Amino acid sequence: MIVILLGPPGVGKGTQGKLLCEAEGLEHLSTGDLLRAARREGTELGLQAQAYMDRGELVPDDVIVGMVREKLRKLGPDAGVVFDGFPRTVPQAEALARTLEDLGTRLDRVVVMTADDGVLVRRLSGRRSCPACGMVYNVYTSPPEQEGICGECGSELVHRKDDDPATVQNRLDVYRQQTAPLIEFYERQPAVPVVEVDGAQKVEDVQTALRSAMREAR
Ligand code: AP5
Repeated sequence: MIVILLGPPGVGKGTQGKLLCEAEGLEHLSTGDLLRAARREGTELGLQAQAYMDRGELVPDDVIVGMVREKLRKLGPDAGVVFDGFPRTVPQAEALARTLEDLGTRLDRVVVMTADDGVLVRRLSGRRSCPACGMVYNVYTSPPEQEGICGECGSELVHRKDDDPATVQNRLDVYRQQTAPLIEFYERQPAVPVVEVDGAQKVEDVQTALRSAMREAR
């Protein structure tokens, strides 16, 4: 099962992708998480990506495609994968199609997650992330037990730099201009079913809708 979760910042791709992977035994491949890990480790990739991420702009396609190819090669041809935050441009989608073909596998489904800008902005303003273990909280809807501290590993939580209001606005614009056209790109391919899931519902309800979309894909 190879699935793409496509949707604007804050719609819940990370939250739902992790839950789906736990339930279905799939690999969660988040390009945002891979880039943030590279930044923490201070690798050349991380340094290259930093300025783009801080401005809310997309990291160049060749950097992203190389990173994803490497990850897929490590996972092997039999892994089921949930892509979160990739592809984000038509060239990335074309590169993914070529990579999957080389691996002898194919894309099963594209899930388009939706929510109004008001919901997205509020979620991102309330998001707190653990830089050590990757747990994600929200001060409005899913706060940690102890304010500012990760309940999983005890590290201090952070508000992502790209979650400040001006950068969020830029990320929403970038999504509309460069990533939303992918919906039409996939809708033009009859072999790849595209399904829409309302991401503004409660976490559990979004997950139920997502799993039902997965069952239809089999
Ligand atoms: P990335 O990390 O991929 O950011 P994004 O796509 O903007 O998505 P987010 O992580 O902000 O949101 P999400 O949809 O995962 O929501 P979440 O589940 O966390 O990318 C960051 C940057 O890296 C990019 O700007 C770019 O620079 C670069 N990059 C990454 N991939 C790239 C690529 N392919 N090409 C080029 N550049 C790339 O939820 C958000 C909050 O809401 C959380 O607090 C959560 O707890 C809460 N929440 C979630 N669901 C619900 C719900 N149903 N109800 C209530 N609260 C909820």
